[in-house]
Amino acid sequence: MSSPTNHQIVVIGKVPGVLADLLGTVGTVSFLDRNEMLTEEEIIDACSKAHVILTEPPDFITAKVIGACPDLVMIAQRAVGFDNINLKDCENRPILVANTPGVLDNATADFAFALLLAAGRRVVEADRYVRSGQWEGFENDLLLGTEMSGRTIGIVGMGRIGSAMAKRAHGFGMNIIYCRAADAAPQVKDPDIKLDQKDQQWLTQLGAKRVSLRTLLMQSDYVSMHCPHNKQTEKLIGKEQFALMKKNCIFVNTSRGKVVDEEALCLAIDSGQIRGAGLDVFYHEPKVSETLLKAQNVVLAPHIGSASEETRYAMAELAVKAVRTAFAGSLPANAVNKEVFENWLKNAAGVTLSK
Ligand code: DGY
Repeated sequence: MSSPTNHQIVVIGKVPGVLADLLGTVGTVSFLDRNEMLTEEEIIDACSKAHVILTEPPDFITAKVIGACPDLVMIAQRAVGFDNINLKDCENRPILVANTPGVLDNATADFAFALLLAAGRRVVEADRYVRSGQWEGFENDLLLGTEMSGRTIGIVGMGRIGSAMAKRAHGFGMNIIYCRAADAAPQVKDPDIKLDQKDQQWLTQLGAKRVSLRTLLMQSDYVSMHCPHNKQTEKLIGKEQFALMKKNCIFVNTSRGKVVDEEALCLAIDSGQIRGAGLDVFYHEPKVSETLLKAQNVVLAPHIGSASEETRYAMAELAVKAVRTAFAGSLPANAVNKEVFENWLKNAAGVTLSK
């Protein structure tokens, strides 16, 4: 058995010093810098003796990594999405996995709305236009955009972030429609959708109507993605779905690049099938398709949806809290695989809990 101070904790990327100090009460903290995407080998090299790893979305904790880290008992992800972690292998060991739900909803919805506004009102194009010295004077039809008020936004995934997006859209006078996971199958018909208490609440508070994904794609002027990436949502939006969208539709994605077939998105942009896009995430992140890089009507961002000072601090804080809670022998509220906890307590091999 190792003593608490012998627990090895590897932070991939950065956490604020004061939080690193808090982690230090659980074990010895080391840092693995990530300037570019790390390979499996680089992660294994740094983490092979780790009991705990603090990760973020670019760090792929694959079966191979898990297999090469025999002492690993906990992964604390500084993000709400955790599709970079092989959860099945974590459950088998068991390795407790925690994420950071709830603290990033407003920041992410703010940014999704910023992309929507930027693409709709051509903010980035306008900036490029002025800087390049092309502006010669006021023109009545210069860089005409599209309004929010009275337009329809379709929100794919009405969880915490999706509903925060809906509140912003409501403030801008938009009509809101949304779909949930169960509404995505092509055979779902709107009259068959049974509204639950949450749906009733959103209808009353925001006038937001739950519809099938198909209806949403056909009726929206703006489509904004807010679903997690998993087997069901992989390439949820592809060629067929872009074909259903209106020609003036602006597509916004701040969830995960892999919920969209990027080739189909490029085709839709290139052929003018949709009006434009605002993208914070990409299928092969950090690689971005040439088509998207060249398209004037696409606003691009480097996965910074939750990147406000306050929120990134809160995410790191929540991850650190989860580690301290688990090592004090309690289940962190933000554990993703809560069901392994009882077994974890018995079998957290080589680990000394602090009580
Ligand atoms: C998340 O929380 O999943 C974001 O993508 C990372 O900031």
